[in-house]
Amino acid sequence: MKHIDIKEVLQNKELIGQKVTVCGWVRTSRNSKNVAFVELNDGTSLKNVQVVIDKSGDPDYKDIPRVGTAVKVEGELVEGRNAAEINIAPAGLAVLGDCPQDYPLQKKGHTLEFLRTMPHLRGRTNTFNAVMRVRSVLAQAIHQYYQERNYVYVNTPLITGSDCEGAGEMFQVTTIGYSQEYKNEEEYYAADFFGRRAGLSVSGQLEGEMAATAMGKIYTFGPSFRAENSNTPKHLAEFWHVEPEIAFAELDDVIEVAEDMVKHVIRTVLDKCPDEIAFFDAHFEKGLKARLEELISHEFGRVTYTEAIELLKKSGENFVYPVEWGCDLQTEHERYLSEKVFKKAVFVTDYPKEIKSFYMKQNPDGKTVAAVDLLVPGVGEIIGGSEREADYDKLIATMKERGMNLDLYSDYLDLRKFGTVPHGGFGLGFERLIMYVTGVQNIRDVIMFPRTVGSIR
Ligand code: 4AD
Repeated sequence: MKHIDIKEVLQNKELIGQKVTVCGWVRTSRNSKNVAFVELNDGTSLKNVQVVIDKSGDPDYKDIPRVGTAVKVEGELVEGRNAAEINIAPAGLAVLGDCPQDYPLQKKGHTLEFLRTMPHLRGRTNTFNAVMRVRSVLAQAIHQYYQERNYVYVNTPLITGSDCEGAGEMFQVTTIGYSQEYKNEEEYYAADFFGRRAGLSVSGQLEGEMAATAMGKIYTFGPSFRAENSNTPKHLAEFWHVEPEIAFAELDDVIEVAEDMVKHVIRTVLDKCPDEIAFFDAHFEKGLKARLEELISHEFGRVTYTEAIELLKKSGENFVYPVEWGCDLQTEHERYLSEKVFKKAVFVTDYPKEIKSFYMKQNPDGKTVAAVDLLVPGVGEIIGGSEREADYDKLIATMKERGMNLDLYSDYLDLRKFGTVPHGGFGLGFERLIMYVTGVQNIRDVIMFPRTVGSIR
C-alpha cells in the first residue's frame, strides 16, 4: 500500500504543497457546515495529522469516519495554523476498516487500570504509543552502547537445568503432569522431556560468565522469568533483562560500566524522543526532563550496605520493615536512600553474604560480598550485580554451606579450574529502567503484554 508515515508528513517541510497519501486510525472527528476535521494517527508519531475535508462540492456528505476507523487519505499537504494539515475532497478518503460505536477507546482520558483490561487495544493511546517508542529507543541505545565498546551480544538459553539465583523462583518446564504412576519425584523427572528437572531461566548470568571467559566482554538482552509471588508495581513474572559480563574486571569496573551505560541510554532518549519526554513531563511526572538532565550531568552516589543501614537507622522514619544489619533492603528503604538522603541514583555495595547469591566474591571481612545494587528515586532497585567469586575452593565451600547440588553446576565450576580470572557483571531490569525514564509508576504499563502473578491472557 503506497503511503508515507505521518511522522514524515509532520516533519518534512519539503512535502508542503505536494500530494501525499497516509493511512491511520481516526483519533477524533468533527463535522461542521462546509468542512469536517479528522485527526489521524498511524502510530509513527505521538502527534496526529489533521485532515480537513472540504464538503463544499458535496454538501450532503455525511460519511465522516468514526473514532477508531482505519482510513487511507489522499490529498494536498498544506501549512496549517500549528502544523502541516492535509486538505482533501470527500473522494480522497477511503475507509479500510470501519469501527462501530462500541469501540472502547471512544474518549480520551481512560485510567491506566481500565486500559490494562485491554492489552490488545491500549497500544493505540498516546500513553502507550509514547512508552513503546521510548522502550524501542532505549533498547537500541543499549545495543549501541555495548556494540561500540567491543562487547559481544550473546543469547543465553531460556530453558535451563540450574537455578542461577538459587532462590527457588523458577517456573517449571514439563511435558507431563504429575501422576501416581511415578514412585517418586526423581522417577517423574527422569521420564520428562529433558530427563531431569528443567525450568525457565531467572537470569542468563551463569552462561554469560562462560561466554565472557571466552569472548572477554559480552552482554545478553532477553527475557528472564521469576515465579515469585510478588504482586507489586515493580515485579513481572516475565521481564526483559540486560546482563553484561566482563572478564578481567573488579567491582569498581562493573560499577563504572553501569553508570556510564545508564547515562548513555538516558542521553539518547533525551535526544531522540523530545516529544515523548515532554508528554511524560506534562502528564506523569512534573520536572521529569530536568530530573533526567540532572542525572546524566552528575556522578551517582555511593554507599556501602553497612553505612546505608546506619543512615536508615538514624533517619527517624517509621518503616514498615524494621532495619537491622543483615536485613534485606525493602523498596521503602531503597527509596528513602535515593530520594531523601542522596536525592539521586546511588550504588549500594558490599551486602551481607547471607542475603546475596552464592556466586558473589567474598570480601576479606568474612561477612560481606562484593555486590552492588543501583537504586533510583521513584523506583528503587534497577540494577543488581557483583564481582564473581573466582576462587574454586571458596566457591565450592559456599555452595556446600548452602546445600547446593554441585553436580548441576559442574560446567560453571570448570571456569574456576581452567584459567580463572577476576570478573563481574550486572543485571538491569529493562522495564524498571523504562519506569524511571518515563515516570510511569506501574511496571504493567511499560510492557505491551504484562505477565504477573494471577494474570495472563
Ligand atoms: O538482582 P537480580 O535478581 O540479579 C540477577 O539476576 C543477577 N544474575 C544479575 C547479574 O549479575 N547478571 O536481578 C537483576 C535486575 C534487578 O535489579 C531488577 O531490575 C530486575 O533485574 N528484576 C526484575 N524486574 C522486573 N520484575 C521482576 N520480577 C524482577 N526481578 C529482577
